[in-house]
Amino acid sequence: MDYIGGEKYWDENFASRPDKLGDTEPSLIDNIEYFKAGTVLDVACGDGRNALYLTGNGFKVTGIDFSSKALERLKSFAQRLNLTVITHQVDLNAPGSLETLGTFDNVIINHYRLSKENIKTISSHITEGGTLFVCGYGHRHKVDAKFRVQDLIQPTDFEDIESSFELVKYTENLVDGKFFVTYIFRKTNR
Ligand SMILES: C[S@@+](CC[C@H](N)C(=O)[O-])C[C@H]1O[C@@H](n2cnc3c(N)ncnc32)[C@H](O)[C@@H]1O
Repeated sequence: MDYIGGEKYWDENFASRPDKLGDTEPSLIDNIEYFKAGTVLDVACGDGRNALYLTGNGFKVTGIDFSSKALERLKSFAQRLNLTVITHQVDLNAPGSLETLGTFDNVIINHYRLSKENIKTISSHITEGGTLFVCGYGHRHKVDAKFRVQDLIQPTDFEDIESSFELVKYTENLVDGKFFVTYIFRKTNR
């Protein structure tokens, strides 16, 4: 699914940003203890504020995004920090886009709404005991000129993975019409 806009929108968005890495998502820092040591796939990684934080904390991170401008910035920030993040330009709208990426100990989806179909595919690419971390604007966020209803994470987005994942933590936070959610799932063998 596109999130807020298409590839052109995001390329222009990243091109207009200052040459500075954004702050790591606070909820990721708060919940890093839930991650399994090893590898991370950062889905719709943008210019890498979270991928680089995770790399700096000992994880081997792969970031995917459809914006070449975002990935260019990520690589430039990584170089300056002397860190390595594997990147692939992937359009999550393309059928089978996640199938050849391999298996990861953790997957993070931050400020992006992944389709139910892709959530199902990705869940089969997480190792036993691994973590799926999802954070962003949730179902009660105010729809406006920027956020469309289809951009908002819904509790029903995860119903197809209930049999192989346990929800170990859920938080929500409504401030001034901004409704943030964090879901942390652990892959189980049930
Ligand atoms: C709000 S940004 C979040 C970036 C990053 N996860 C973060 O938290 O900083 C949304 C990201 O989704 C990416 N995106 C939107 N639609 C996409 C698609 N169909 N395939 C791949 N990436 C997409 C954009 O390029 C952008 O980097």
